[in-house]
Amino acid sequence: MQKKALVISLVDSQPVPEITSVKIPDLQPGYVRVQVAYSDINYKDALTLKKDSGVIRQFPRVPGVDFSGWVIASNDPRFQIRQQVFATGWDIGVNIDGGYQESVDLPGGFLQHLSEQRTLKEAMMIGTAGVTAAMGITKVLASTVMTDKEVPLLITGVTGGVGGWQLAILAQLGYHNITVVTRQTALTSQLTALGATRIVSPAEVGLDPLKPLAKQKFGVVFDNVGGDLLGQLIPQIYQDGHLVVSGNAGGIKLQTTVLPFILRGVTLYGIDSVHCTIEDREEIWQLFDNHFWPTAEKLPLITEVGFNELIPTLESFPTTPHLGRTLVKFRTRRPKFRNDD
Ligand SMILES: NC(=O)c1ccc[n+]([C@@H]2O[C@H](COP(=O)([O-])OP(=O)(O)OC[C@H]3O[C@@H](n4cnc5c(N)ncnc54)[C@H](OP(=O)(O)O)[C@@H]3O)[C@@H](O)[C@H]2O)c1
Repeated sequence: MQKKALVISLVDSQPVPEITSVKIPDLQPGYVRVQVAYSDINYKDALTLKKDSGVIRQFPRVPGVDFSGWVIASNDPRFQIRQQVFATGWDIGVNIDGGYQESVDLPGGFLQHLSEQRTLKEAMMIGTAGVTAAMGITKVLASTVMTDKEVPLLITGVTGGVGGWQLAILAQLGYHNITVVTRQTALTSQLTALGATRIVSPAEVGLDPLKPLAKQKFGVVFDNVGGDLLGQLIPQIYQDGHLVVSGNAGGIKLQTTVLPFILRGVTLYGIDSVHCTIEDREEIWQLFDNHFWPTAEKLPLITEVGFNELIPTLESFPTTPHLGRTLVKFRTRRPKFRNDD
């Protein structure tokens, strides 16, 4: 038996993607086979096609860090045929073949059951981006500064998956003083409709010249961009405020001083949604079911692409301005199982 997969091979040090047929192997002990319904595109997925990105260490590899679908075979007693499941992170699509294929074999410990509130599509609307956003928000939600729903918050990379979910969740929780940073300032009306109070360019919110401490403007900064902009935001965080660092879309370097941390008590939280425990994941998905899922008009915008459009979409993803989440649609109808009526 064969299945279609997007396979990345290394040719002359260059990652080369191809949609091809591959043999379906025997299912290993403890593994579960999932027929993929949806996958999605995260920043890391797009990096797998970039030369020397270092995301994939062993080729050939099937990328796709997230996927949802139906169990079609199981060697793990926790998972039964027909059940709807999903997986995010865990080095899927990086060190283990991922979601950009018709079916995925994975150790059962990496899978989560879909709750009754969510659909397979919604699970991928959340995906790694939503989990990362939710994890960052849970770090600061109980803090004194967040007790005031008027507290000025700031999100960078808001047009992306992680930033889009941070905006959606914070707006859903009733925060209504949210500044968002984007290079696409023409998206003002869309971002306002999604819950942003003020839309600014990096230059408008940055500090020039850079100072160790500046006027205190933001209770919490949620940063997905890193680099120069992050260094310019830290001096503007409130006394006892917080900085939630999730990403590096704009660079990995950070220029700062210790002063905001030792004179203003600023706390920095680093977020890693890849290696967090299954218990932490379950807690995050329950929060989506009970508190974090926004009303329809406040959901991050969704673009769907088919498997055949995946390679060009991935190739242009980091440099093409986008807004919201991109889903990869494999199969929307439940497969037929033996003993079905
Ligand atoms: N820590 C974790 O566990 C974790 C998990 C998931 C993702 N991440 C990281 O979080 C970041 C965001 O991921 P994502 O999936 O939300 O990505 P995404 O959808 O591509 O969004 C990134 C956003 O960053 C902004 N940006 C600013 N400077 C940029 C630059 N030089 N190049 C590209 N984008 C730039 C863009 O917004 P504008 O065009 O509006 O300026 C873009 O929409 C990435 O660095 C990713 O690796 C971390």
